[in-house]
Amino acid sequence: MKPAHSLSLLASFALAVAACGGSPEPAPAVPDVPAQPAPETPAAPAPTAPEAAANPEGGSAAPAAAAPVTVEVPIEARTNSKLKGSATFAEVDGGVKVTVNVSGAPKGKIAVHVHETGDCSAPDAKSAGAHYNPDNHPHGLPDASARHLGDLGNIEVKADGTGTHEIVAKGASLKQGAPNSFLGRAIIVHEKQDDGSQPAGNAGGRIGCGVIGQSK
Ligand code: CU
Ligand code: ZN
Repeated sequence: MKPAHSLSLLASFALAVAACGGSPEPAPAVPDVPAQPAPETPAAPAPTAPEAAANPEGGSAAPAAAAPVTVEVPIEARTNSKLKGSATFAEVDGGVKVTVNVSGAPKGKIAVHVHETGDCSAPDAKSAGAHYNPDNHPHGLPDASARHLGDLGNIEVKADGTGTHEIVAKGASLKQGAPNSFLGRAIIVHEKQDDGSQPAGNAGGRIGCGVIGQSK
């Protein structure tokens, strides 16, 4: 029994020693040493950071790609209409593809334009100003040789009040600050057909309005 007791004591002592000694010893533990060098190695990459910084400059092409390529625009009712709608603007080769979807619209053809001011605050949407016309052209339908850049033609609305219109606005862009950019302007849906006449197609009131690029 004594031996056993002694052994247990020894064992306990040994454990205690191991525990005590263990603490100090782990410090020199080899694993820790390599671990520290490792962090230092990562620190070395820091010098490479300048290179990375240099890349962003050369990669200015990347920021260009990051520019808004597609903009989703909700279209809100104006002039006491029941219109609901949305438009998608996407940069494509040579222009901007515009896809407009509406519901609650009057049956038949109704005009859709990009107007120059991204302000839909007025109840009649007159706050959006005139047709976007950076080139000082006469008004026209999409197939006209000369037209306002914002002239997008007509939406064909079905009997159920829904309609979809897709068109590529040639010469337009979605580049911030560009002289041909649709960003920051407004898309307007009218109550009547754009007949192509001067000065603005005789399309009547503005029943829908959305600011292009307002939130993105
Ligand atoms: Cu208009
Ligand atoms: Zn026009």
